[in-house]
Amino acid sequence: MSQVQIHDDPASAGAAVAAEIAELIRARAAEGRTAALGLATGATPASVYQELRRLHREQGLSFAGVQSFNLDEYWPIDPAHPESFQRSMREQLIDAIDLPPAAFHIPDGLTPGAALPAACAAYERAILDAGGLDLQLLGVGLNGHIGFNEPGALAGSRTRLVELAESTRSRAAVAFGDDEVPRRGLTMGIGTILEARRLRVLAFGAQKAGIVARALASAPTPALPASLLGGHPDLVWVLDRAAAARIHSGSV
Ligand code: GLP
Repeated sequence: MSQVQIHDDPASAGAAVAAEIAELIRARAAEGRTAALGLATGATPASVYQELRRLHREQGLSFAGVQSFNLDEYWPIDPAHPESFQRSMREQLIDAIDLPPAAFHIPDGLTPGAALPAACAAYERAILDAGGLDLQLLGVGLNGHIGFNEPGALAGSRTRLVELAESTRSRAAVAFGDDEVPRRGLTMGIGTILEARRLRVLAFGAQKAGIVARALASAPTPALPASLLGGHPDLVWVLDRAAAARIHSGSV
């Protein structure tokens, strides 16, 4: 059963998720174990990362025993490109905390085509070697995509190369400016994501209200990848009032 948490605004939602992550990190540290975090990019998780930076700076929250695994990346893309997810993740969080460099994992947008199957398998193995993901942060695309699992993705899918939906590419086109948006991406699969022990799906703003309501009302179907998360035992949708506005309204 999915739970739904509705906050006044993205800042308070982000603070609540960051507090849960901080508690998880401290609990794992007290046990002498690694916390494995699944991270996401996009605009949505910005308030979580802002609060994690503050907790590190002001309260000494340490990421020294953490391993992080990002969901997805464009392919091909240079990690130095302003729109690469690797660059965004470094700017939003990694460069401001004490996560050891080798503990930051993200699919490499410069992996040569022939090396992709081995690189994707190695990504899955690294997650397992870290003990599996304790918590995966997720956003949702306007077409219901999760990571770069576009409509049609299967519940058992694993980390792989995928084609991006045209709507995903055209949404990204403004930010890419004169550069062409890559046609493909590397993403954890829905099956990879479902193995995380906790899933926290964040969605903010009125433009997400329709897709949130549809994902919550729909039976699991590959046509709506977010609906495939529905059977997870510890899934929380973390929303602001605007994104929650159409749940149960019958006007999804
Ligand atoms: C992007 C990413 C996803 C992200 C989603 C929502 O294309 N591949 O990982 O969650 O779309 O993005 P935003 O948070 O900017 O709405």
